Amino acid sequence: MTMNYGFMREEQGWIGQDITVLDTVGSTSELLRKRLTEENVPSGAAVLALEQTRGRGRSGRNWLSSKGQGLYASILLYPPRIQHGGVLSLLAAVALSDAVREVTGLAVGLKWPNDGVLHQRKYAGILVEAGIAPLLWAIVGMGINVYGRIDESQYPHAITLEEAGAENVRLESLWQSLAHHLEVRYERWLLEGNPSVIEAWRNYALTLGKSVVVQGPSETITGMAENIDEQGRLLVRQGSLVIPVSSGEVSVRASDGSYA
Ligand code: BTN
Repeated sequence: MTMNYGFMREEQGWIGQDITVLDTVGSTSELLRKRLTEENVPSGAAVLALEQTRGRGRSGRNWLSSKGQGLYASILLYPPRIQHGGVLSLLAAVALSDAVREVTGLAVGLKWPNDGVLHQRKYAGILVEAGIAPLLWAIVGMGINVYGRIDESQYPHAITLEEAGAENVRLESLWQSLAHHLEVRYERWLLEGNPSVIEAWRNYALTLGKSVVVQGPSETITGMAENIDEQGRLLVRQGSLVIPVSSGEVSVRASDGSYA
């Protein structure tokens, strides 16, 4: 374990009060999940790493997590309602955007459902995994590309905060801000339900108003990304038909090739 006190919360708060900071790990989400099967883990417990050797992305993809490149964090939540799994991932994306905007001053955007985007390229990804035992739980895993340059020939849609113009970002500050905003957004959601999350997400949205191609496991839908509904589903218009798309196993691309 890395004794890095900069990652301890500077203010009162429950996210990250229980924190494990590692130089390297297979996957922060995997480790937190394992802990959950072995012991009682408090809400807000977090695992952070400076490198992952088996970083997991959405739809079974890998998440590149090289040392010195970014922040890899997983946070445990016990949400009271299971039907809002999709909203939780939008909530995490909003908190991520709040934090990155606060720390870097960059005009961040979101590609539905939860990719952090700058200059039409992805700087962060979120993977929310959930289960029901021992309690209803959700592990929010976030990967943020912070330093260096990403090989564009290999990853044409990826970018780091540094490439996007952020200077001297400290991972500790990024984490402090992320923990704070996630806590604020989550507590508000517990009290008020989905509307505040949906509204905040729309304010960061890059996908809405674009013509999109939605690739599901068995079918492809093309249409206009009109809005998101109260459950965070993307509403895609095809003529007079509006098709609600859940975030599950779909990938969304703008028809004009832009990453939004
Ligand atoms: C995506 O594919 O966009 C989601 C990427 C999520 C990566 C993060 S890094 C921290 C956490 N641990 C993992 O193994 N994955 C998530």
